[in-house]
Amino acid sequence: MNKTPIAVLISGRGSNMNALIEACARSEYPARIALVLSNNPDAAGLETARQAGLATLAIDHRLFPKDRTGHEKAIDEALTRAGVKVVCLAGYMRVLTPYLVGRWSGHMLNIHPSLLPLYPGLDTHERALAAGDSRHGCTVHLVTDGVDEGPILQQAEVPVLSGDTADSLAKRVLEQEHQLYPAALAAFLSFCGWLPCCKRKMTH
Ligand code: GAR
Repeated sequence: MNKTPIAVLISGRGSNMNALIEACARSEYPARIALVLSNNPDAAGLETARQAGLATLAIDHRLFPKDRTGHEKAIDEALTRAGVKVVCLAGYMRVLTPYLVGRWSGHMLNIHPSLLPLYPGLDTHERALAAGDSRHGCTVHLVTDGVDEGPILQQAEVPVLSGDTADSLAKRVLEQEHQLYPAALAAFLSFCGWLPCCKRKMTH
């Protein structure tokens, strides 16, 4: 099968990245991971990726003080060098500038731990609890300039249970994230395969 080369961008533990690694290991899955990249050289997920035999790269944002675009240019060059066609943000905790978003427009996905458009940004589980919501969940969406604002590809819901804490809710949502991201990416790739404009761009 002709697998689309993707990059996974992480900042920390990388459990969503791991879900993508496991999905990509399946012969019938339509993507392969060409690069795992982090802004944080100490991200635990980098070691997980190395153990899985994947190419990894850290581009430390602290080496680009007050130069977000410079940092993103270095990232963009690395993605292009690796032959990446689709970028998956998976717990990548830097707000992107229009430079990188523009370079990967329509080819960059993000997973967010809320039912967008509810609760963009941080502390989503605390905010769902404070609002007294009965349902919570996660979203995979295309990345656009507005933070957590891009078109929604897929969502998964969980119930909020009485006695839930932010931690217990986060755990329940994360289990769904690990199912949702591989499924949403596969659906996105199969959809793009039908579009004449994308057909050429998605595989080598
Ligand atoms: C995940 O819950 C992901 O949805 C969230 O960070 C966590 C990363 O966990 N992302 C965001 O909040 C982005 N706005 P992981 O490193 O174990 O995948």
